[in-house]
Amino acid sequence: MNEITPANQFIPEHYDVIREFGTKDRHVGDDETPWIPYVAEGAFWKPLRFDLASGRVWAMLWVQGPGIIGRHQHHGSVVGFVVEGSWYYKEYDWVATPGSMISEAPGGIHTLVTDHPTGMKSLFVTEGVMEFFGDDGGYAGSQSMFWNIDEYVKHCRKHNLKINEKLFY
Ligand SMILES: [Fe+2]
Repeated sequence: MNEITPANQFIPEHYDVIREFGTKDRHVGDDETPWIPYVAEGAFWKPLRFDLASGRVWAMLWVQGPGIIGRHQHHGSVVGFVVEGSWYYKEYDWVATPGSMISEAPGGIHTLVTDHPTGMKSLFVTEGVMEFFGDDGGYAGSQSMFWNIDEYVKHCRKHNLKINEKLFY
């Protein structure tokens, strides 16, 4: 939180409680969190925020070439934003390209495909549990914020990286 200085005399309303109880503005640099192998070949994710109060995960997803993230169902809502490359869901007729925003509804089932030569990079803000389906259509595991935290912590310990406390708020 910025401190009040003589050159900055405006005292905002509730300043004391904001300073005592408010969460801080923060910045997470590109090199402050690692790319962690994800569930599919050539796919990695990078944690940006674990929202402990809502169970929401902010993360980049990077698929390094043509590839697939298996069919899954969401039990919360998701927002995606494409930064590089392109991708689509097998179940729909649109293609997401840089600048596209994607909104996924609770209950939605889809299969992410990129056939772009350099794959895709996108930001996803994911709420709730994701359940994956195997090739036979049966249940193949689930992911929640604590799954992501567990993967992040295990990755940091394995590679002797410092756990970035700024991601947890
Ligand atoms: Fe999804």
